[in-house]
Amino acid sequence: MRYCIANWKMNLNISESIDFIRSLSKKNLQNNKTTIILSPSFTSLSDVSKGLKKTKIQLGAQNVNSNTHGSYTGEISVSMLKEFECGWVILGHSERRQYFNEEDVILNDKLNTVLANGLNPILCIGESFDQRKNNETFSVLKHQLDIALNNIEIGNNKILLAYEPVWAIGTGLAATTDIISEVINYLKEYLMQNFSLNIPILYGGSVSKENSSAIIDIKGVDGFLIGTSSLDVNEFYDIYLNMIKR
Ligand code: 13P
Repeated sequence: MRYCIANWKMNLNISESIDFIRSLSKKNLQNNKTTIILSPSFTSLSDVSKGLKKTKIQLGAQNVNSNTHGSYTGEISVSMLKEFECGWVILGHSERRQYFNEEDVILNDKLNTVLANGLNPILCIGESFDQRKNNETFSVLKHQLDIALNNIEIGNNKILLAYEPVWAIGTGLAATTDIISEVINYLKEYLMQNFSLNIPILYGGSVSKENSSAIIDIKGVDGFLIGTSSLDVNEFYDIYLNMIKR
């Protein structure tokens, strides 16, 4: 299975989200080897969920709290997401790590809560520009995985890993196919050897209709986590078409 995932971040209000799904659901989405997941803002989850009811498009959230309930002002729990039939949740996005101090230990807690409550996590990892420049890419990725995945029990859930180099996010400069291939190979091997995990690995960072065919052709790339290009329904659909053609 391949995954074409939109991360709308803090974009698209309710009416814009509804317009998007109205347009997208009119298109041919019959390929059953590629799952589309839309991750709107929390405030749009309810309406997007209703809008997706008769479609095969799935729903994701962009974050969740590690506690199941309690005095955590401004936070959202797994049961609140499940009310909207939200099956997926993005965890550890670099923007949350960077701006909201989300550390790997917190992600480990979040993964445990999400998995224990039957949601499917999309775990994001990636190195910064400086870390790559200093040849720290693999040690950074290893560290992120070691802590986040420590003692997690996946059970019957699905878990996806998204490799999103921080320097490629929102810059218009995706990682080269050589870099993506090298990292994905490393991750596949590391996950198998250390966690006995064989899970889909996605690429994220300036994915566009122009570069998506070349990236999906890389062995081991199982899909995309798309930011900017997921905000325009036609561009997002073009990427989906490029995925299903290959
Ligand atoms: P861009 O596609 O805008 O680079 O964002 C990628 C991303 O952060 C998806 O989670």
